[in-house]
Amino acid sequence: MLMRTYDLILKKRNGYPLDTEEISYLINEYTTGQILDYQMAAWCMATYFTGMTDREISDLTMAMARSGEIMDLGTIQGRKIDKHSTGGVGDTTTLIVAPLVASCGVSVAKMSGKGLGHTGGTIDKLSSIPGFNSELTQDQFIRQVNDIHCALVSQTGKLAPADKLLYALRDVTATVDSIPLIASSIMSKKIAAGADGFVLDVKTGSGAFMKELSQAIELAKTMVSIGKQIDKPTVALVTDMNQPLGQMIGNALEVKEAILTLANQGPDDLTQLCIALGAEMLVLAEHSPDILTAEKQLLTALRQKTGLDKFKAMIRAQGGDERIVDSPDRLPQAQYKIPIYSNQAGYIESIDSLELGLAAMNIGAGREHKNSPIDLAVGLELKKKIGDYVTIGEPIVIVHSNMASSDQEKIRAAYTFSDKKVSAVQLIHMRNT
Ligand code: URA
Ligand code: CA
Repeated sequence: MLMRTYDLILKKRNGYPLDTEEISYLINEYTTGQILDYQMAAWCMATYFTGMTDREISDLTMAMARSGEIMDLGTIQGRKIDKHSTGGVGDTTTLIVAPLVASCGVSVAKMSGKGLGHTGGTIDKLSSIPGFNSELTQDQFIRQVNDIHCALVSQTGKLAPADKLLYALRDVTATVDSIPLIASSIMSKKIAAGADGFVLDVKTGSGAFMKELSQAIELAKTMVSIGKQIDKPTVALVTDMNQPLGQMIGNALEVKEAILTLANQGPDDLTQLCIALGAEMLVLAEHSPDILTAEKQLLTALRQKTGLDKFKAMIRAQGGDERIVDSPDRLPQAQYKIPIYSNQAGYIESIDSLELGLAAMNIGAGREHKNSPIDLAVGLELKKKIGDYVTIGEPIVIVHSNMASSDQEKIRAAYTFSDKKVSAVQLIHMRNT
């Protein structure tokens, strides 16, 4: 059938859904450069305003997933479950969940990305481990998962090239914040990475991409619906990002925090979230019969430190210095540790995660641009979280920096206080299946 891009834009603009063939035409022709940016941008804007049906969203997802190679994880035994976070501040979960779930006997073949802006990336965090190689070949990757059940590698640029092009176009045409486009973008990359099912951590709050709970819930539901339509079981937890997760923000600092957590000495919120996400993975992998049983298995793994042993085995297998596990002081260390003292007393009522994420980025923990260098040693250590009582002169944050000065005022301004007791934050807002 001969298609004209103009007609497809017009159809979409007038509010009619495109059929499967029309969507794959748009994506294929755009990926090969037959359709140019101005027409695709017009289609994005039409989609932004008129939305998409569930069927269109899953068609778009699959068309983008198929625009490049889809990883074949078929030679790895068992069901492969991937975990994805929409991005938060100090979100150390992958470093913990991957080895923890693997230590229960479920294979974790995980690809991760680098960080951008106020959110960190798992691959950057791992690069603070001396010698650690996250650039395995596909054969090495699969062999390692078959050997030790766990590998964490860098996402290849070949996955879902259509998404890469489309995301860059949306970024400059004010069409990023469309839920159908975000959901299909995320899911296309996940599907291309080859897993059989997905556990999604959709963040909401001041440090998240989705600031409003209602928006996060809609994104979660849309991604779960894509999973249903393509027969890949998907569970989404909508979780809180109104304060950074755990105590550490920064690359080496978060590796240290992951080690502590795997040794069952981590912060409560981080531990709780890792157990919740890990339990969903164990159930989707058909390893555990239900969430309660899965949680018990994970808690046992924490107590017996089998997840920590798995983390060590993974570091060794990927060429890293495994001694960092027993002596985290071998990780890169910042020259200065600058305490930020509170000039107010009271219960902490809110913490602006975005501001803290940006403060960490500004001292080098994150990238402002795709190619900015990062300083693995630096970041923030939170001494107090929402609900904690603080007196005047008490340290609320320790800035780990290689610069003698710090954004003291900005960091202080990220905190608000109350005279009255503040109730603890609800960490998991909702579960979608
Ligand atoms: N993250 C993605 O991967 N894609 C989007 O469209 C938005 C956020
Ligand atoms: Ca953290």
